[in-house]
Amino acid sequence: MRQLLLTACASLVAASCTGNLPPPMVNLCASDWPGRDASRLYLVMFYSPRCGHCERLKPLLLHLARTSNDIFGLPNRPLTVAGVDCPEESNHQLCKRYNVTGYPTIFAIGQGHEARYKAGASDAELRRFLRTTVGSGASRRARCGAGVFKEPVVNLCKAHFPEAEAKHPWLVILYASRAKSLKRLQTPLAAAAEDLGGGATRISRPERLAALAEKYKLRVRHGGQLSGSKPFAKVGAMCCDCDQEARDFCKSLAPGSLLPVLLWSSGGKVEVSSRSPFVAGNLVHVALAHLGLSAGPQSSESAKSKSAKRGKRSARGEGHDEL
Ligand SMILES: *[C@@H]1O[C@H](CO)[C@@H](O)[C@H](O)[C@H]1NC(C)=O
Repeated sequence: MRQLLLTACASLVAASCTGNLPPPMVNLCASDWPGRDASRLYLVMFYSPRCGHCERLKPLLLHLARTSNDIFGLPNRPLTVAGVDCPEESNHQLCKRYNVTGYPTIFAIGQGHEARYKAGASDAELRRFLRTTVGSGASRRARCGAGVFKEPVVNLCKAHFPEAEAKHPWLVILYASRAKSLKRLQTPLAAAAEDLGGGATRISRPERLAALAEKYKLRVRHGGQLSGSKPFAKVGAMCCDCDQEARDFCKSLAPGSLLPVLLWSSGGKVEVSSRSPFVAGNLVHVALAHLGLSAGPQSSESAKSKSAKRGKRSARGEGHDEL
C-alpha cells in the first residue's frame, strides 16, 4: 500500500513540472523537489533540451528506469530516474544549488544521499554508482532504523544527523536503549513532534503557534513574522549505546552529560538544553524558545505545578545513564 502511495505521489510530481523526459522517467522541478531526505532514491539528470550529450544519454536512462527493479536485487529499493530542465527559469536556483555548470550533470538524490556521478555514460557504470551509493546508505539506514522511536519522531545516527544545510531545526534526544525510562519518553516525544509540525497535518505556522499557546498555556509572541506551514522543528532520537560509533558521537555532542539529554540543532550548531523534564509541553516550549517564539508558561501557577512535578519525578528516581 505504502509502495502504491509513493508511486502515486511520484506521478503527481511529474504532472506539475515541465520537461521533455518521457515516462517512466519523471520531470522534476524546484517546486516539487524530493531532496536528500526523500524516501525514494532519484537518479537525476540536470539537462538542457538543446544538449546533444543529454539526448544521447536518454535511451540509456530510459532503459535504467524500465529495469530499475533489477539494480539492487532488493524489493524495497525504489528508484526513480528523473531530470531537471535547467534553462527553465524557475529551475535556475535549483541547478545552481547543485553546482550544475555543464550538461548533463547527474546526481543520486534521496534516502540521505546527494552524490554526484563522475564516471562515464555507460549502463554498467551507472548501475555500479547506484549500488555503491545505496550500499553506503543501506548500512546507514539500518543503523538509524535500529532506533526504537516511531514516526513522527525520526531515528537518527551519526551518518544521518542534521547538518548545517538541514531544512529544519531539530530537537534531538540522546538516549540509552537499555534505560528503564525509555518507555516514558515515547509518548511525549511523539506528541512534541506532532505539535511542532513533523506529522502529516499541515496548518499555517501562526495557527499552529496559537494552538500550542492554548494547549500548553505558553506565552508566545511572533510579531507577525510567521508565514507558511513548515514545521517549527523536527524531533529526532539518537541511540547512544547502540554501538561504539554512537557512543563516541554522543559523547562529542554532549560531553559529560547524563542520558537522556535534550539537544537543539540548528544551522549545524548543536546546543545542549538543560531544560528537562521530558514532557510534551516542555519540549514544545524548548523548541519555541530557541526560535524566540515562547517566553515560557503563562502563569506562575502552572510553573509551580511543573516544578512540583519535576520534584516528584526526580524523587521517583527517574533513570539517568552515564554516556
Ligand atoms: C556545490 O559546491 C559547493 C562548493 O564547492 C559545495 O560545498 C556543495 O556541497 C556543492 N553542492 C552539491 C549539492 O554538491
